Amino acid sequence: MIDRVRASMALRAVPSLEFVDARAAGRLDVERQFFAGLQMRNGVFKTTHHRRLDDANALLVPAVKALGRTSVRVLDVGCSSGVSTVELHDALTAAGLTCDTVGTDVMTAARHVAREDGCGVLFDDDEEAIQVEVGRWAMSWRWPPRKIELLAHPLKVARAQLILRSQLDAFRAALHAERPGYRVTRVPLTSSAVASAPGVTVVEEDLLRPTVPGAFDVIRVANVFNLGYFGEARLREMIAVTVGRLAEGGLLMVTQTRAGTNHATLFRKREGAMEPAGAIHGGSDVAAMVAPPLG
Ligand SMILES: C[S@@+](CC[C@H](N)C(=O)[O-])C[C@H]1O[C@@H](n2cnc3c(N)ncnc32)[C@H](O)[C@@H]1O
Repeated sequence: MIDRVRASMALRAVPSLEFVDARAAGRLDVERQFFAGLQMRNGVFKTTHHRRLDDANALLVPAVKALGRTSVRVLDVGCSSGVSTVELHDALTAAGLTCDTVGTDVMTAARHVAREDGCGVLFDDDEEAIQVEVGRWAMSWRWPPRKIELLAHPLKVARAQLILRSQLDAFRAALHAERPGYRVTRVPLTSSAVASAPGVTVVEEDLLRPTVPGAFDVIRVANVFNLGYFGEARLREMIAVTVGRLAEGGLLMVTQTRAGTNHATLFRKREGAMEPAGAIHGGSDVAAMVAPPLG
């Protein structure tokens, strides 16, 4: 019981400017904690961390090599910080392939507004709050907060609730014009690992409205195609758009991480249709939506 409480307390949300400093110092552990606490307004978490997709990469990399193309274009959809994108790129280059790797995410930067009393708000592109901060403590925009936060930090939670309910406009106004007592900082939502990885770029793009042109030999979608996040119709639309970006003969990997286990299915595009080409840990829950079973 005590261990569970300790583990829960260790899952603290990281204030944005602490993340900015940690990113500059290449502190992947703090980056991991920050992204685990960030939830977008569409309900999707930005959770990601290094070495998360190692066994899925072990299925994907030999299949890419078997394509027999010395140079491949790789797309990692919904890549969050891009730390796993860099790892996929490194695994492919270590296997002797030349890769041009692009990670995309619907949000790759946010803006933080700090008030002189030490409170702060992190805003998304639509100027909606995604994290509220009181000094060195932070919580998600989502109400109610975790029980452990209510028990351990009732006053900070009350202060954060006050900001969310009645003070957001004052913070938001600082995004538009200089405002005494408020300071705005751009917060890149990418990992320090991306900056030092030649051959990898991370681009802001909604996967439903692609802006990166051209076809890709390899596409990975990790922890995005999930019926817990999106309704079936929306998911089918997302799958159709993504499959449309895959080159003929190319590979698509769809994977979900549950309780630390990657449930991944690999597909190949043949004559425009998708066919399964391998799986680990029972495969993805949405595999049948990508390639309907025969018969
Ligand atoms: C749980 S994270 C997965 C990160 C990484 N792929 C991994 O598995 O570690 C899901 C990511 O999908 C992104 N996302 C959600 N909706 C999206 C959309 N419509 N287009 C592009 N990215 C999206 C979120 O911003 C978030 O960074």
